[in-house]
Amino acid sequence: MNEHRDGSGMNRRQFLQAGAASAVVMGLGGMESLAAPATPGDAIPWVTLNNGLKMPRLGLGTMTLTGDVGIRSVAEAIGMGYRLIDTAMIYTNEVEVGKGIKESGIPREKLFVTSKLWKTDMGYENAKRGFQTSLDKLQMEYLDLYLIHRPSGGDWKGSWKAMEELYAQGRIKAIGMSNASFAQMDELLADAKVKPAVHQIETHAFFQEDKAHAYLKQHGIQHEAWSPFAEGRHGMFDQATLSSIGKKHGKSVAQVCLRWHYQRGIVAIPRSRQKAHLAENLRIFDFELAPAEMAAIAPLNLGVTQFPEWT
Ligand SMILES: NC(=O)c1ccc[n+]([C@@H]2O[C@H](COP(=O)([O-])OP(=O)(O)OC[C@H]3O[C@@H](n4cnc5c(N)ncnc54)[C@H](OP(=O)(O)O)[C@@H]3O)[C@@H](O)[C@H]2O)c1
Repeated sequence: MNEHRDGSGMNRRQFLQAGAASAVVMGLGGMESLAAPATPGDAIPWVTLNNGLKMPRLGLGTMTLTGDVGIRSVAEAIGMGYRLIDTAMIYTNEVEVGKGIKESGIPREKLFVTSKLWKTDMGYENAKRGFQTSLDKLQMEYLDLYLIHRPSGGDWKGSWKAMEELYAQGRIKAIGMSNASFAQMDELLADAKVKPAVHQIETHAFFQEDKAHAYLKQHGIQHEAWSPFAEGRHGMFDQATLSSIGKKHGKSVAQVCLRWHYQRGIVAIPRSRQKAHLAENLRIFDFELAPAEMAAIAPLNLGVTQFPEWT
């Protein structure tokens, strides 16, 4: 890992531990903030959710990042400036995510950690147990965001009730859904005590989810994209329109995809186990897609999931 010296004698890790976002020095007038960002990740804007909680607008997905790869990728990503880490019980890597977070040296309260309740833990009692198991694995006292992963069966409304209670106790800072249908979202909005703050759904250039996006916007629910690159399926990384837009900006297809999400107001959580890709995926805040470029991406929508095996 590159050692970043900031002139105060601290290496990068110490520097990040000392205060993360910007360096603070004592000047004649007292405390002064240095303008230069410490890491590319410091450029990540945060969005305010419907309950006032702030969430980074770009994060790290961790599905399949298990074992040492999981620990290293999470620690490296946080070292670069990622602050949102997305895991789930079903990824079987909550232990590694917790270890990676510890290894990063960044205090827990500077991070935004998401986990998800799996189908096998549906229902009021199971959800409470499932949540505690996730916390124990992560070695944490609370989660920033907890989602119902797939409300495709079982008593998911009972799970929501349990999550509302955990939210009221401050053990989860925000609760939300993933992969819910319009009908399920309508049902929840009709009788939930706590409105979902986030809905995490498959969204990428080949499955743009315009209708869901409009629905979520109308209800003040943050749209979060899973598989923002469709995992590279359907030739995403070689797609001609995305490549040619990227070339104009000196950016990769991955960066064009993430910038497209960002400009639509969608939080994206790309996954990578490669340091170069982790760094590349952060560098999306120094260019802008023109309205004509956004319009050129719209027709790439195939309108169908690229993950039929999961539906
Ligand atoms: N709620 C749900 O039901 C649900 C479902 C699926 C996913 N998710 C969440 O969403 C996250 C992201 O989705 P995903 O993991 O399915 O796939 P993804 O982020 O769309 O794509 C990951 C793939 O892209 C490659 N990649 C990453 N950066 C790249 C770059 N700059 N250039 C070229 N290739 C690059 C990765 O390879 P390298 O590792 O080699 O870089 C990996 O093969 C998951 O990890 C998970 O946290 C949630």
